Amino acid sequence: MRARNVAWLKPWEATAPAERQVPLGFHAMVAALRREARSGRVLPFVVTYDRELVGQLTIGGVQYGSLRGAHIGYWVAEEFAGRGIIPTAVALATDHALATLQLHRVEISMRPENGPSRRVTEKLGFRFEGERPRYLHIDGQWRDHLVYVLLAGEVPDGVLNRWHRTQG
Ligand SMILES: CC(C)(COP(=O)(O)OP(=O)(O)OC[C@H]1O[C@@H](n2cnc3c(N)ncnc32)[C@H](O)[C@@H]1OP(=O)(O)O)[C@@H](O)C(=O)NCCC(=O)NCCS
Repeated sequence: MRARNVAWLKPWEATAPAERQVPLGFHAMVAALRREARSGRVLPFVVTYDRELVGQLTIGGVQYGSLRGAHIGYWVAEEFAGRGIIPTAVALATDHALATLQLHRVEISMRPENGPSRRVTEKLGFRFEGERPRYLHIDGQWRDHLVYVLLAGEVPDGVLNRWHRTQG
């Protein structure tokens, strides 16, 4: 699925400046995610729709101690865009991170040019926190990012509930 969506994902895909630029194959990617998951730093999820795999969501950078935070990344296949699939997945993941893992802070960042991704965070009521110049290496360059956050206690009855309520 990623291979079919190369052009769709490329402008938003993380790259690593000092490492080999050949993308990992499927088995290597799963092995790397499992390794990270066992360490407790990453929670990798697939996103399904009508029982079909349509994308990926990853809770990454999990830190405990005095920060208790994580960030969320995501994508959906182009043919499934615009159906509210990723907002639903992000709401579920954020509720899991804040309520079950008892994290204090969930963060999502994206390039300013990524209108659809900004819409995901705005719809779910993430708070705009600020800009980080040249924050992440994306599509071969250091790119500016906008940062959106939710803190524990800001949405007492959960992000999914609130979103469904505000949708009417
Ligand atoms: C960003 C992304 C994850 C949004 O997921 P989604 O499930 O389509 O989210 P939504 O259905 O809520 O749509 C979000 C916005 O996308 C736009 N959109 C709607 N249909 C679309 C389509 N067919 N194609 C592209 N964008 C579309 C709209 O602006 C929509 O906002 P609106 O609901 O206010 O009209 C998805 O566009 C994607 O995978 N993009 C490529 C990878 C990427 O950008 N990942 C995030 C990196 S930070």
